[in-house]
Amino acid sequence: MNERRKLILKTLGLTPVWRLRPSAPDVHDEADAGESSPAEIPVSQMNWEQLAQTVAHCTACPLRKTCTQTVFGVGDKNADWLYIGEGPGAREDELGEPFVGQAGKLLDNMLAALHLKRGENVYITNIVKCRPPGNRNPSESEARQCAPYLARQIELIQPKLIIALGKVAAQNLLNSDDSIANLRGRIHDYCGIPLIVTYHPAYLLRALPEKAKAWRDLCRARELMDSLS
Ligand code: URA
Repeated sequence: MNERRKLILKTLGLTPVWRLRPSAPDVHDEADAGESSPAEIPVSQMNWEQLAQTVAHCTACPLRKTCTQTVFGVGDKNADWLYIGEGPGAREDELGEPFVGQAGKLLDNMLAALHLKRGENVYITNIVKCRPPGNRNPSESEARQCAPYLARQIELIQPKLIIALGKVAAQNLLNSDDSIANLRGRIHDYCGIPLIVTYHPAYLLRALPEKAKAWRDLCRARELMDSLS
């Protein structure tokens, strides 16, 4: 309980009778959220904790019924670099962290090539927070239901640069149905934040010759970031 809340309860003569139950998320710590519970606060105004709790309890689309747990994201909440994939796979569903399978190992190597490390000035998340069964692409409606969560994550992180990993991420973030071949090689704009599209690491594992193109995308990203810093 924060100091302001303690003072209000004391002034009302309600302490020490009222106590927050340990399992109840304290929505008052980071933002001055009054008496509202996360369910009553618009997603666009949630703080990090409220957003994470809301995602963890979300049942807005059918994906929650088949996944093990939600996969919110991982890394530095003030990161300059934001990497966005499409949705958790089997391993991510099991561990609750994005990009921890084979594709994740390649992503970590891609980060290392840019002198970056998961969790250090880097945040990683996905278009959808629940695993689509059989690793299929998330449907348009599933991505739409999840979009406000990602939008709020981006607002809270305020990254300097977004890297869209693969077609699903790129098309959803840019609201486009263009091919990845057309979307690569340019600097896009996501609500004022530069966005670069590259191949999804899982695709690169199957299409090794495309790695050279992904490398060019990463070099462009590094140059852009250096010019912004
Ligand atoms: N593929 C994705 O798009 N995201 C993950 O988290 C893992 C694999």
